[in-house]
Amino acid sequence: MSWIGELSGGKPPEPYIDDSPNKVPDPNIPNRMVSTKSANQPFLAYKEYRVDQEAKHAAWLEKKRVHDEKVAKGEPVEPLEPDPTEPVEIGLFGLLKFFFILFVCIALAGKFFTGSYTWDYQTRLLQLKTFIPQNQRLFSESLLAKYNGEDGRPLYLAIDGDVYDVSKGKAYQPGGSYHHFVGTDAARAFGTGCFQTHRTHDLRGMSDRELAGLAHWKQFYANHKDYVKVGRVNHPPINPATPIPEHCDPKKAQAAKEEEEAKKKEKTKSEHEEL
Ligand code: HEM
Repeated sequence: MSWIGELSGGKPPEPYIDDSPNKVPDPNIPNRMVSTKSANQPFLAYKEYRVDQEAKHAAWLEKKRVHDEKVAKGEPVEPLEPDPTEPVEIGLFGLLKFFFILFVCIALAGKFFTGSYTWDYQTRLLQLKTFIPQNQRLFSESLLAKYNGEDGRPLYLAIDGDVYDVSKGKAYQPGGSYHHFVGTDAARAFGTGCFQTHRTHDLRGMSDRELAGLAHWKQFYANHKDYVKVGRVNHPPINPATPIPEHCDPKKAQAAKEEEEAKKKEKTKSEHEEL
């Protein structure tokens, strides 16, 4: 910690003396010799390179002078070659080429290490079909019901009106755990989890949590790499006088009933107060 000692008024450090036997003139400071030790090699090599470049540039300048003189005299001349020391312009094309090669290398490395050109990253944006406009159809409920995989037809399901081709999904095949979603719009079941009793698009009385669950599944289908939106289903309007589908969980069903009754009471109370 010699510098600490020096700061506190102690003895300054001994000056560095380069006493190595192999020395050459310092390329940067005139009249100074520096050792050829390996730490100095990059600087010495760079100086050598610069000297070489300057010599090439001087030779080119001489050629140019002769060339220009001939031109001025009207003598026939060969076209002047470009200055070999001129820095190479990369330009937009060079930049694009660089990024293209970079992407190809990353994709090949992905294939080598993970078996996937995209490093197992899956998104619709990497699917060609995302950019090909699909033929969107308007389905009636009875037409949608036909797309259940029977007779070689594809598997379609609807969620809150949007119809998707889910033929590539294992779970939707006949006998699969989610086959019940096929051929219908069971939007309510996506939010409540009542797969048997809520196969309906009726969303009345659903809690915020259930609606958030439904929104999640809507996003799931919209962003899925294998499922394609094929159209919309046209539902007949829901009669508000019909009862709201009961929850499959008895506790939640009871809570919903109590909430409904409390709302009704509140409504009649405020109507009385108005009179
Ligand atoms: C509100 C509740 C739930 C909904 C709406 C729901 C919905 C779904 C849907 C739509 C799929 C198919 C995804 C795809 O296209 O690949 C799926 C797959 C799956 N779900 Fe659920 N799920 C629910 C709850 C559960 C629960 C509680 C379990 C576990 C006990 C579960 C286990 C699975 C399994 C194992 C798969 C994969 C099936 C396969 O690919 O064969 N789900 N779920």
